[in-house]
Amino acid sequence: MTHSKFVWGASTASIQIEGGADSRGLSNWDVFCETQGRVHAGHDARIAADHINHVEQDVAILREMGLKAYRFSVSWPRIMPEGLGQVSEEGLAFYDRLIDSLLSNGIEPYLTIFHWDLPYALHLKGGWLNPDISNYISDYTKILVEHFSDRVRHWITLNEPQCFINLSYRMEAHAPGYRVSDRELALAAHNALLSHGKMVQVIKSYAKLTPTITYTQAMPMSSIPYTNTENDIEAARNRQFSITSDFAGTVSVFADPIYLGAYPTEYLNRYESILPNFGHDDFKIISSPIDFLGVNIYMGDYVTAGPNGEAVVVPPQPGHAKTAYNWQVRPECMYWANRFCFERYNKPIIITENGMSGNDWVHLDGKVHDYDRIDYINRHLLELNRAMRDGVDIRGYFHWSLLDNFEWAQGYHERFGLVHVDFENGNRTMKDSAYHFAEIAKTNGNCIGADFSI
Ligand code: BGC
Repeated sequence: MTHSKFVWGASTASIQIEGGADSRGLSNWDVFCETQGRVHAGHDARIAADHINHVEQDVAILREMGLKAYRFSVSWPRIMPEGLGQVSEEGLAFYDRLIDSLLSNGIEPYLTIFHWDLPYALHLKGGWLNPDISNYISDYTKILVEHFSDRVRHWITLNEPQCFINLSYRMEAHAPGYRVSDRELALAAHNALLSHGKMVQVIKSYAKLTPTITYTQAMPMSSIPYTNTENDIEAARNRQFSITSDFAGTVSVFADPIYLGAYPTEYLNRYESILPNFGHDDFKIISSPIDFLGVNIYMGDYVTAGPNGEAVVVPPQPGHAKTAYNWQVRPECMYWANRFCFERYNKPIIITENGMSGNDWVHLDGKVHDYDRIDYINRHLLELNRAMRDGVDIRGYFHWSLLDNFEWAQGYHERFGLVHVDFENGNRTMKDSAYHFAEIAKTNGNCIGADFSI
């Protein structure tokens, strides 16, 4: 099967890079950062990578890398400081500048509508626990689509609902740092799904250029069969989509309704007593057809089949490979998570994020020699290419991230960028991995022995 050209790009998210906090409304993350003990070393996102003052330079870097696509997110509080009502012309103008600059450099914008920075005013109205959120986010979406869709074709609705619901409302790890009841959690999850569905309908109704629409998921419990036996493969597949007591951190609760039109039966049965009352048309709205399944993937667990076929996680070997964030390096996750998702949902996939944090600094020669990241990229792309050869329909790869940035509760402790950012002065230095990734994109993977033109 031959498709249009494989897309090579890099990803970022608004509050993680922009800075310019004075020129936008307050976000839930601003307040979270102010709460003692929530974010590493009391860091905040007021300046971040100061992208707002480096837009042209950052686009020039993308161009120098020869990337033809850039995924970024729009900050809701920059467009609507109160989340509702008044629209900021200054906010729209900032993204006009970015989008126009991308297009004039031959780079396609992939616009994520929501990547976690919720207007604080909406948090005060209940945030994702408030069923009206799906209407608020539809209004915000309409503003973006009306204003940008004469130039933007590629729309991503929500980034990783598992994170902004589960990490935020159950695990206390992300803003607002709550631990709500399971009943409220299920409601928040449903509100997120309904939001996605309504956003899709708004995009389709108002887009001027024919849109492509993607929904981007995290891959929690990404499972890699420990051996190639059918038993291990089946155990890994089952675990990947299983419903646990951590139901808001699963793939199937957040993907089945969108691509299959219903929650998994296991979820409905197990949580029947706490699920919200679904609206008559909810699942029709949620499953409004879209183009791509967006996969954000960083790691996976080895899984073997226990005596009854159940999944048993194989603990990491002593001294196993890990990133600076202590995340295990498991390139096979790129093969298996995509294969399992494609089998189950039968949707073309775009890798909207993949990458690693490293202990990167500018060396005496003025360069950043991040060989670990180069190896990480090579290994993950080879596995991705293997999935393609085995029939998984993958249309693009966006590296996370273009720039070192504000890594949520870790503050500036983790560096995920292809480009090093000096947070004292905003200076950018392309890391060795940026040059390497540019070569991969230019040769469609040939320089690492892969072929993404299939
Ligand atoms: C998120 C990014 C984050 C990255 C690394 C993803 O979950 O979408 O915002 O920086 O992972 O943690």
